[in-house]
Amino acid sequence: MGGVDDSAAVDRYLESVLLDDDPALDAALRRAADAGLPPIQVSAMQGKLLHLLVRSIEATRVLEFGTLAGYSAIWMARGLAAGGRLTTLELDPAHAEVATRNLQEAGVADRVDVIVGPAVDSLPQLDGETFDFTFVDADKVSTSAYVDWAVGHTRPGGLVVVDNVVRNGAVADADSDDANVRAVRDFLDRIAADPRTDTTVIQTVGTKGYDGFAVVAVR
Ligand code: SAH
Ligand code: DHB
Ligand code: MG
Repeated sequence: MGGVDDSAAVDRYLESVLLDDDPALDAALRRAADAGLPPIQVSAMQGKLLHLLVRSIEATRVLEFGTLAGYSAIWMARGLAAGGRLTTLELDPAHAEVATRNLQEAGVADRVDVIVGPAVDSLPQLDGETFDFTFVDADKVSTSAYVDWAVGHTRPGGLVVVDNVVRNGAVADADSDDANVRAVRDFLDRIAADPRTDTTVIQTVGTKGYDGFAVVAVR
């Protein structure tokens, strides 16, 4: 304690204080690790934030870009209003398979559709829908395209949350040649100029290191 960055220890402390034992989420993370998936899901505190946001706007239609093992999807599905549904888009069939199992074991599979394939290819089948809440967390170079689609399919008062927009501080580097950093900067430039939306970014620390969430509110 007392070092320059105790944020991972603080996350573990906060989890111990604020979260109940959660065998379904624990098992989901174990299955993800056993299947060799990268441990890049949101942290528990971040997952609970997504859950609380979904709950607070009484969302019935939720969309996710990037399922991985279904960890964030379980958090969000648990926050759906009665009769609500989550659709989550995943490129990798192996990830989708682990996620499907995790969603079943967590008791939310009846409320969640996992669509396998590149997200852009799945969007046309969702074209007639209107969402309350979207979490964008797939390939970062497509962030702006996903957000643009989501904003156009979100009701007034709905939210679009985007993961990984600070990237260990690299987002502030105008000269970065990292494609992911450039993609985030492009997204921020576009959303700042988008009259449909109001946006903030909250920097985050903790078990996932130094990163951040963008929160886009649809007018
Ligand atoms: N939201 C998850 C983590 C997602 S990790 C959680 O917090 O639990 C990012 C995921 O996006 C990976 O599973 C990756 O396979 C997927 N992905 C990458 N490119 C994609 C694309 N073009 N379309 C859909 N999913 C994609
Ligand atoms: C990576 C992707 C993520 O969505 C994330 O939250 C952390 C890391 C990655 O691809 O390394
Ligand atoms: Mg992420």
